[in-house]
Amino acid sequence: MVSDPLAQLAAWLVDAEQAEIYEPNAFVLGTIDSTGRPSARTVLLKGLDSGLLFATNYLSRKGDAIGGGSDVTAVFGWYSMYRQVIIEGRAERVSVTDSDEYFDSRPRGSQLAAWASEQSRPIQSRDALDQQYEDTTQRFANDDTVPRPEHWGGYRIVPTRMEFWKGRSNRMHDRIAFERDGDVWNVTRLQP
Ligand SMILES: Cc1cc2nc3c(=O)[nH]c(=O)nc-3n(C[C@H](O)[C@H](O)[C@H](O)COP(=O)(O)O)c2cc1C
Repeated sequence: MVSDPLAQLAAWLVDAEQAEIYEPNAFVLGTIDSTGRPSARTVLLKGLDSGLLFATNYLSRKGDAIGGGSDVTAVFGWYSMYRQVIIEGRAERVSVTDSDEYFDSRPRGSQLAAWASEQSRPIQSRDALDQQYEDTTQRFANDDTVPRPEHWGGYRIVPTRMEFWKGRSNRMHDRIAFERDGDVWNVTRLQP
């Protein structure tokens, strides 16, 4: 275990990739809305720097819960490797430039979907959804590039706590918790 938990997460992500785990970058993101109601869903990690980067629709249920910034949790579960990482931290929107850059790197079909789908909103049928995609395809048919919709972009989760769980025999697992104190990470071993 290294002393920087973000470096440790990066190392475990490489291990998960090398173990050919399906979607090794997937994690479950937990949010709390303004009424205190919790919700969770899977998203994909798109980068790791001072925090964890993911992208979504800012007008979705999760986007609404996070708004300009709020506390969240994230859980990576690599069950076949008997490993789990639990993160608590604050999610903040990344810069417009970073969102643009990431949006530009996405396949055109995903870019069109960002315009075509009002994520988390109800729609009357699959046909109606397909029609929205078709209409969007037509709308941008003569454009070489699809611009980023304002409502789509990245978030960075800056962790305040990260816990690494490694399964061991007889349920005597390893749990190493990192708690941020200013610039320092305090490390504690927890009982399983
Ligand atoms: C493997 C996997 C990866 C996903 N990645 C993302 C993602 O990166 N961004 C995203 O907005 N939704 C992603 N989704 C869809 C979300 O789980 C969710 O359905 C969607 O974002 C709407 O969530 P919300 O209504 O709680 O905002 C993914 C789903 C799965 C199963």
